[in-house]
Amino acid sequence: MIQQGDIILESRNLRRDFGGVQALRGVDLKVRRGSITGLIGPNGSGKTTFFQVVSGMDPDGTGEVIFNHQQILGLRPSKIYGRGLARTFQLSRVFPELTVLENLMVAGHRGDRGNRERAFGLLQKVDLHNYIDVYGSDLSYGQQRLVEFLRVLMSDPALILLDEPAAGVNPTMRTILWDLVRHMNGLGTTILIIEHNMNVIEELCEEVYVLNEGELIAHGDFTDIRNNETVLESYFGRIRVHPATPGRASS
Ligand SMILES: Nc1ncnc2c1ncn2[C@@H]1O[C@H](COP(=O)(O)OP(=O)(O)OP(=O)(O)O)[C@@H](O)[C@H]1O
Ligand SMILES: [Mg+2]
Repeated sequence: MIQQGDIILESRNLRRDFGGVQALRGVDLKVRRGSITGLIGPNGSGKTTFFQVVSGMDPDGTGEVIFNHQQILGLRPSKIYGRGLARTFQLSRVFPELTVLENLMVAGHRGDRGNRERAFGLLQKVDLHNYIDVYGSDLSYGQQRLVEFLRVLMSDPALILLDEPAAGVNPTMRTILWDLVRHMNGLGTTILIIEHNMNVIEELCEEVYVLNEGELIAHGDFTDIRNNETVLESYFGRIRVHPATPGRASS
């Protein structure tokens, strides 16, 4: 059962064509304020494209995107970010030539001292407070993903779009990452997450949307999705449903 509540993000008839490829074919999706909502679907189904268009990075989508009751489609990415909608990328984008602390400071808006305090607080939560002077380029891949996530949190976004944040991250770091997601959600941050691991989706998300070839084919809580015939055919048959073997990268 899906709860009712205020909608923080809504897309209406969202479309994006890449020449012949219709990456989004009229997507109507709602994210409830305060929720952790999952966006799943096979490779190439349009998940990242959805984030690209919603965050303003891809200006060529059509339809409507309503964030906090205001139309944002067509706004520049910096404007959308400034309104409280932040995202991470499928591939890590930590600045390699900046230290961990600098990587976080550049994203803050509290002034030097406030940013520093916020950065320390966040780094402590993920046990990276001893890494403040380490350069981005010297971090492990998993550490980079965490720092990238923390950088997004420096701006106190109301909504965070997470694009496979744990892909390629080792199991220990993954646990830290999921704990942080839960922690931030507990503090009131809404999360929309793309993730291929169904166990994670089941544990984290109260609401799930399923994309297939640019179309939403299902929406509901995890049980609804898991038992949906169309989803079973188009998706569950093709992906791993069990956790990745420890020590192996998962995507
Ligand atoms: N810049 C682009 N130019 C041309 N086609 C693109 C571009 N970006 C995405 N596409 C196409 O749009 C479709 C959706 O891609 P998208 O990256 O959104 O999928 P995805 O669901 O995020 O997949 P994955 O799970 O592999 O990350 C694919 O067919 C892809 O090839
Ligand atoms: Mg993707």
